[in-house]
Amino acid sequence: MIETIRGAAPAYDIDAWRRRIPILASLIPMNNCSQAPQTTATREAAELYLESWNGDGMDWDAWVGEAQLAKQEFARLINASPEEIAIVSCVSEAVSAIASAIDFASGRDRVVVTEAEFPTIGHVWLAQEKRGARVSWVPVRDGQIDVADYDAAIDDRTAIVSATHGYFLNGFMQDVPAIAARAHARGAKLFIDAYQTAGTTPIDVRAMDVDFLASGNLKFLMGVPGVAFLYVRRAIIDSLSPTVTGWFGRENPFAFEVKRLDWSPTASRFDTGTPPIINAYIARAGMRIINDVGPRAIRAWLEVLGQRLIDGGEARGLTVHGTRDMSHKTSTTGFVVDDSHAIEVAMRERGIIASARGPVIRLAPHFYSTIEDVDTALDALADTIRDL
Ligand SMILES: Cc1ncc(COP(=O)(O)O)c(C=O)c1O
Repeated sequence: MIETIRGAAPAYDIDAWRRRIPILASLIPMNNCSQAPQTTATREAAELYLESWNGDGMDWDAWVGEAQLAKQEFARLINASPEEIAIVSCVSEAVSAIASAIDFASGRDRVVVTEAEFPTIGHVWLAQEKRGARVSWVPVRDGQIDVADYDAAIDDRTAIVSATHGYFLNGFMQDVPAIAARAHARGAKLFIDAYQTAGTTPIDVRAMDVDFLASGNLKFLMGVPGVAFLYVRRAIIDSLSPTVTGWFGRENPFAFEVKRLDWSPTASRFDTGTPPIINAYIARAGMRIINDVGPRAIRAWLEVLGQRLIDGGEARGLTVHGTRDMSHKTSTTGFVVDDSHAIEVAMRERGIIASARGPVIRLAPHFYSTIEDVDTALDALADTIRDL
């Protein structure tokens, strides 16, 4: 079995990609669930903007165009059309904008949120209680969510279901089409937070039947903080007027008409102010890597690495948080530890970048990671726990 895994290889030229990630010469990044490493392509993209700014002084046509191209790259990643994509600064902003477009006095005042959401998502929805929303929670048990628990939570007063695709703590992955079927059967909309899955697995918004989906860029999409993308299903765009808005949400932002509030016919109505331009340059380059390598091939390799993490962790006496079933997991595995922050610091001294979150230390390989990287990280984690 181990021999088979050792002999396994991804369906792409992993060595060629590794040569474009300079940090691999000195460290093993296992923190892709928090921040992916810099690549030569993302660095060059940042430099392109800096050169334009320095050389041209200003080039708004090209810069705003770059934000548009970044939307296109995200659309390609999730099988959407570019007109269904908005660019924002972070996922919190995307969810706030969605919430601002919901009229909680219309007979649907309930928001169903899972306990597996990244805290910011819960915070945005709880803040809507001031506007008449009532939040109810789908429970996490043993680090997982049972899709049947949505049945009790969703009713005919539910306006929207807000569910994460991947659980940030341990990589548990939800069955999105099953949640969509439950939400839509009761007339509710569905928002999916794909921040922990985009870049690790194929995402098809049409096949998944979601109404909204958002992701930031700095994790498995190989980018940076300060930029995120929001998908809004074409059929519902016209019915939404977010009060979290700004001049880039207008039909023609460059009309400069202060007294006229019209709405872009596309998902750009969810854009707000001046787009995050340098971030958009980097984001496009990062997403292009993922699209070029291919989410399907990436998923296949991450299943190998993820299984290696789980089996190897247990063989070293480590405790896996949540499910061990790779068909319901991203590549992220959380190992239960006493002092995750101290372990993160100690592991870095051993050349491994891990990611602490409360009760767990997360190891999250990506498409460029090798089986040797996973084994070395597990050895370092087991040694660190023993030595602390
Ligand atoms: C699943 C998930 N959603 C959202 C966030 C953060 O969202 P924001 O872009 O608002 O910081 C994170 C982590 O940073 C996350 O893991």
